[in-house]
Amino acid sequence: MSPNRRVYDKSPEGETQEFNSTVSRVPIRTVVDYTRRGGNVWIGNSTSPADFPSVELTVFNFQLVEVYDGAMNSDSHFPATRLRRLRYHPAVRSLVREVRLDPSKLILPLFVRTGSGIRQPISSMPGHAQLSIDLLKAEVREAADLGLGGVILFGIPDEKDEFGSNSYCADGIIQQGVRAAKAAAPDLLVVTDVCFCEYTNHGHCGVVNEKTGRPDVDNDATLELLAKQVVSHAQAGADMVAPSGMMDGMIGAIRGALDAEGYQHLPIMSYAAKYSSAFYGPFREAAESTPQFGDRRAYQMDFAAAAEQAIREVELDLAEGADIIMVKPALAYLDIIRLVAERFPGVPLAAYNVSGEFSMVKAAAEKGWIDEQAVALESLAAITRAGASILLTYWAKDVARWLG
Ligand code: PBG
Repeated sequence: MSPNRRVYDKSPEGETQEFNSTVSRVPIRTVVDYTRRGGNVWIGNSTSPADFPSVELTVFNFQLVEVYDGAMNSDSHFPATRLRRLRYHPAVRSLVREVRLDPSKLILPLFVRTGSGIRQPISSMPGHAQLSIDLLKAEVREAADLGLGGVILFGIPDEKDEFGSNSYCADGIIQQGVRAAKAAAPDLLVVTDVCFCEYTNHGHCGVVNEKTGRPDVDNDATLELLAKQVVSHAQAGADMVAPSGMMDGMIGAIRGALDAEGYQHLPIMSYAAKYSSAFYGPFREAAESTPQFGDRRAYQMDFAAAAEQAIREVELDLAEGADIIMVKPALAYLDIIRLVAERFPGVPLAAYNVSGEFSMVKAAAEKGWIDEQAVALESLAAITRAGASILLTYWAKDVARWLG
């Protein structure tokens, strides 16, 4: 990239003006706010607005691009500038550090099943297990004692059916789990994953039929059941709901159902930009939710789609009433996290460091190839640096202990 980039402003009427010639001094926020009010930011190599037509090829329309400026570079020269001065002393490093992990920003995923005294290990996720209600209570108490931000519960029912009816019945497994968790640790935030894949016999995230000419999840039929599911979670005492099924209109349907039942206060954390990902493999063993046919590509996002599609997903969810936005997975999608963070300043952003991302580190660490703690902390710091402030991670308890 040329160091002499400048930003030009093209007003909606089409007239072109220089936005600011010393763009390094334009706070990035100003540019973001400006684009959000409907302006276009154009970036070109030209030094004069008159040259603008010749750089019109650089059409980063509605897209924010890193801004460089020569003046900034000329200020910083060796030997006047030595960046190692900020690194030589551990206390200086600590002083200038910006990314700090905080247990109160971590959410621990937990898998709840029926029975008692059962801790059924998940072989692909060492250290994690499906827990019966009694052991779940001990686990949430521990999460509370460690100062975690919350837990997110996934239910594994005994019986699955075509509609996933266990997910919306008053005595379903997740409803039992929520009641138990709230009784064991009343102050701990209990979030529920709102989806059908663990509850349906076909393993898809909603009602399946062939209305479109191929077996697929029926979007609008699923919305009706999502409304029932979410109300039953609220009635069981959930503090927040987290819909993960990627149905169009799901946030609106859920917000409407909660409001109609008197749960206007209950926040929704939307899995807004959730990609169809092979990184969910171990989770599907954990939650017994592998699709029995096909895959989830007709509803979860295509990882090769334009990054801007994530923005459209987030915009829609916010318009429908989402309170917290999530990007998932995290590590292979740091660009998406950064994009969403920059486009929606002020909207709480969560990222889910998913099962495959966890299991890969565990497996390599078991072989002695990498240091689990160091890699986990580095990964979570990277997700935070990209722009996520809330982290869903299977390392939540470990991080709290590591940070001591
Ligand atoms: C759907 C759901 C999934 C995950 C969280 N919620 C699985 C999927 O979409 O197939 C994946 C989490 C992980 O891999 O850690 N209920």
